[in-house]
Amino acid sequence: MNAQERNQTPGLTVKTLNFSDLPQVIAIERRAFPAPWSLSMFVLELSKPSEIALSARRDGRIVGYVICARYDEALHIMNIAVDPGHRRRGVASALLDEVIARGGADAAYTLEARVSNAGAIALYERYGFRGVGTRPRYYADNGEDAIIMWRAIGTPWEP
Ligand SMILES: CC(C)(COP(=O)(O)OP(=O)(O)OC[C@H]1O[C@@H](n2cnc3c(N)ncnc32)[C@H](O)[C@@H]1OP(=O)(O)O)[C@@H](O)C(=O)NCCC(=O)NCCS
Repeated sequence: MNAQERNQTPGLTVKTLNFSDLPQVIAIERRAFPAPWSLSMFVLELSKPSEIALSARRDGRIVGYVICARYDEALHIMNIAVDPGHRRRGVASALLDEVIARGGADAAYTLEARVSNAGAIALYERYGFRGVGTRPRYYADNGEDAIIMWRAIGTPWEP
């Protein structure tokens, strides 16, 4: 399924995330992560004008979201999650397509993921991210290492 087909999936729409979306986002965040972001972390990120923050909705309900910060050297994907009942149906891919559409295919992107998060790492690899190193004991809840991934400038992308 390519990005155009995903965005034509009946009922799936991707648009800018608003403060009023945060109650639904927080509920998904708590189902998705062992150490979820707090409401104030989301508020802080959404307050940054350069941020790319998106929701994916199916039939009007939020089923996923992504938060991507813009820094001088790269865009940093800070958070992405899809509600458990809506996974493996292209929601995260539709969010990443829109991040790259807004951030630019000619920009560099980076992120961290738990080394055990094989599903997320497989998703990122499909988008051209590659592991470049680790941050030892990056996650405070269980002391797990993070894999650092970069998507280099010029990596092909076909929406
Ligand atoms: C990781 C996550 C965002 C993926 O969302 P998703 O909407 O299910 O992803 P997509 O349907 O767009 O997946 C696209 C491709 O990525 C890969 N992928 C995604 N999840 C996968 C999994 N659990 N196992 C293996 N491959 C996976 C597959 O190649 C998939 O294509 P396919 O379904 O045709 O095989 C979702 O599982 C999630 O919210 N996990 C909990 C939060 C999390 O770990 N976030 C990332 C933090 S770094």
